Amino acid sequence: MTELGRRDFFKQLSVIGGGGLLLSSLPWLEGFATDKQKELKGERAKIAIIGTGSRGLYHINNLLAMPNADIVALCDIYPPHLEEAGVLCPKAKKYTDYHEVLASPDIEGVLIACPLHEHAPITIAALNAGKHVFCEKSMARTLEQCKAMYDTYKSTGKVLYIGQQRLFDAKYIKALEKVHQGGIGEVVGIRNFWFRNNDWRRPVPEPALERQINWRLYKEYSGGLMTELATHQLQIGSWALKSIPDYVMGSGDLAFWKDGRDVYDNVNVIYHYESGVKMTFESIISNKRYGMDEQILGHTGTLELAQGKYYPEEPKPAPGIQQLINQIEHKAFDNISIAGPSWVPETAADVQGEYIVKNVKTHDGSNTTGAVGDGSVELVSSFCDSVITGKPIPVLVEEAYYSSVLALLGLQAMEEHRIIEFPEEYKIPYLNHA
Ligand SMILES: NC(=O)c1ccc[n+]([C@@H]2O[C@H](COP(=O)([O-])OP(=O)(O)OC[C@H]3O[C@@H](n4cnc5c(N)ncnc54)[C@H](O)[C@@H]3O)[C@@H](O)[C@H]2O)c1
Repeated sequence: MTELGRRDFFKQLSVIGGGGLLLSSLPWLEGFATDKQKELKGERAKIAIIGTGSRGLYHINNLLAMPNADIVALCDIYPPHLEEAGVLCPKAKKYTDYHEVLASPDIEGVLIACPLHEHAPITIAALNAGKHVFCEKSMARTLEQCKAMYDTYKSTGKVLYIGQQRLFDAKYIKALEKVHQGGIGEVVGIRNFWFRNNDWRRPVPEPALERQINWRLYKEYSGGLMTELATHQLQIGSWALKSIPDYVMGSGDLAFWKDGRDVYDNVNVIYHYESGVKMTFESIISNKRYGMDEQILGHTGTLELAQGKYYPEEPKPAPGIQQLINQIEHKAFDNISIAGPSWVPETAADVQGEYIVKNVKTHDGSNTTGAVGDGSVELVSSFCDSVITGKPIPVLVEEAYYSSVLALLGLQAMEEHRIIEFPEEYKIPYLNHA
């Protein structure tokens, strides 16, 4: 992130609520503070990219524009992807075996953008080799691997980032600040959904490469919609409620894209919290009408996080003449019953809501690589800062851990057709941030 980008980011964060940003309540952003930036003294983190597929290339393009990053190595097992990245970074050394990357003393940090089943083995080996690590989300393919990654992070003391960019997205930060300040009253429900209408496939040059390229579609490598999409959204539960669910239930099917894949394409999961609040996740990839969003429902207001909007439960009445126009436009008078019951359906109030940051950047969730202004640039820039200082940042790993664990528990509930209690052995000491 450039100095201008950093200032813009802070400007967005101080838009609503009248007051400025309380950095102490957002400890994972403290590195962006001006005094902390001065400590970096213009240094550049020496980074290797492991996995130069679509997300890897997206990160490379962003890193090339960052003053605090130097891409010194590239690694991929698939030659066309390695070559493509090599064109962007002609000076970077190319590798096909990540063990050799980890053995190189010139590399300070690795950014891992490999298929999910590779996250844990590469991250753990990298941390143990003394490297700082950025690993894409989800954390890992299994619960055991998530815990092993977390434990290695704690025992090595190295920097670990997981690609949960919502923590660096101004509209999410401001929305969650509003929740914690009581701006929507008591949180009574959280609804997450992600709808797309496409087969989620990548073109395959020859059939033998099907599973390698379309790894997302096979259980051996991926948890499907839960690890690829839900993991971003389930993070909202612990961020908003500062607690974890006590049990999870759900139903998943392969209902439409029956083309040889073995992950679900149609899922509904409920996360139950001790307070009685529920968080849901629904995803169907054969209808895109409702796009994607995370909605936090409070007893005095509602937040639509991906839209960056806030809706009070009782909006201020519009001026008299505007009310009359609204009533005429919406034929409100038709509802006044002359004969018969005066019942009208309880449909959603037609209010516009307020944007929670200026110049809000939204997307519909259909892009599989990354969206502009979604926090990814800030997240990776912060990783480079942390590589330079060698200091881990608080909160991020724990948030990512719980969102990955929730995604995997939801998957387990669907696969086993049963209610899953949150397992004691996967609880970690955390959940005390703003
Ligand atoms: N945070 C986000 O919003 C976001 C968006 C898209 C993807 N992702 C994540 O990024 C990761 C990669 O996704 P993608 O879409 O780029 O996948 P991809 O298939 O396009 O790229 C993965 C690359 O990793 C390479 N690879 C596989 N095993 C390897 C190994 N052992 N060593 C080196 N390279 C290896 C593959 O050859 C491929 O080039 C996934 O975990 C995905 O969930 C995150």
